[in-house]
Amino acid sequence: MTPRLIFMLTRDDRTVADAESCVDEVLSTGVRDIGFKDIGLASDAMQRLVRRIRDGGATVYLEVVSLDEASEVGSARAAVDLGVDVLMGGTHPASVLPILAGSGIRYYPFAGTVTGHPSQLQGTIETIVANARDLTAMEGVDGVDLLAYRFEGNVVSLVNSVCQAVGGERVIVAGSLDRAERFDTVVRAGALALTVGTAAFAGVFPAAPDLSAQVEYILGLVDLAKGSGSEIAKVNLQAAFSSFSDHWSPKIVGDINDAQVKLAKFEGQFHWHHHDAEDELFLVIAGRLRMGFRDRQVDLQAGEFIIVPKGVEHRPEALDGECHILLLEPRTTLNTGNVENERTVRELDRIA
Ligand code: NI
Repeated sequence: MTPRLIFMLTRDDRTVADAESCVDEVLSTGVRDIGFKDIGLASDAMQRLVRRIRDGGATVYLEVVSLDEASEVGSARAAVDLGVDVLMGGTHPASVLPILAGSGIRYYPFAGTVTGHPSQLQGTIETIVANARDLTAMEGVDGVDLLAYRFEGNVVSLVNSVCQAVGGERVIVAGSLDRAERFDTVVRAGALALTVGTAAFAGVFPAAPDLSAQVEYILGLVDLAKGSGSEIAKVNLQAAFSSFSDHWSPKIVGDINDAQVKLAKFEGQFHWHHHDAEDELFLVIAGRLRMGFRDRQVDLQAGEFIIVPKGVEHRPEALDGECHILLLEPRTTLNTGNVENERTVRELDRIA
């Protein structure tokens, strides 16, 4: 199971002041799980935020980070009033459950002992696992919110242990993941979802600092982690090309660090575009390719490749019917570059 990415419009355990204006940018990456916290926004701003997320077709998550019982109860009531889909966090399920009853809101309280702000997860792996079991045995609790990356001990062991104990599909791993190996841990443990917020707002990922580039990079990490546990296997190009027939729609066949190997079939002429941040390699496997540039064109045959540097306008064209191309480019590369049209493919199929 690939974990869902819940993007939190939060930084350092507070909802960011301009959360509402970030929603469209997050939606543009394809993320459809968006959350915020019960600290940082006034209730009218939270209402607008929920509406905006919902209008974008996404699932709405509210995470309770205030630790005293009265505030938590207040946040649970707010969750019902706001009509969020999922309530995460909090440490007083016995007080929250009656409030949520009949609301249809899914509920994932914190597992273990959570203290401080920003929150820290305390206790041993054994006590946290035991608590996760107790919580998931409660009527009305859908799973647990595991602040794995706010835990001082062995995080990998914690995530694996909790997922094994209660079932990965009942565990949301939270605490703003910020490193590739952490995504691996979550994916391998089979967790339901992971949250990222602070790290993306802080621009810690090696992509452009704007939010959508950061989120796209994170999605790439999840994808990469998904592939890293699988067997190392060879790819036969002929077989891979014979497995699809659509044109101008690249398929992922491999990952190399932050780049991907993709296969595509071209027919006719594409449109002019460029990629702001990515160099693209086109290797012709079969047929003939004409790469148009504004000042010239270059024809390639099978066994030849060309690298189009970032920022350079180009227009690929298949000569003599169809041509088969192997692409090597950063995972963030959108096939239509700076142009959005009916040929834009945001989520590429993986065929190997
Ligand atoms: Ni291109």
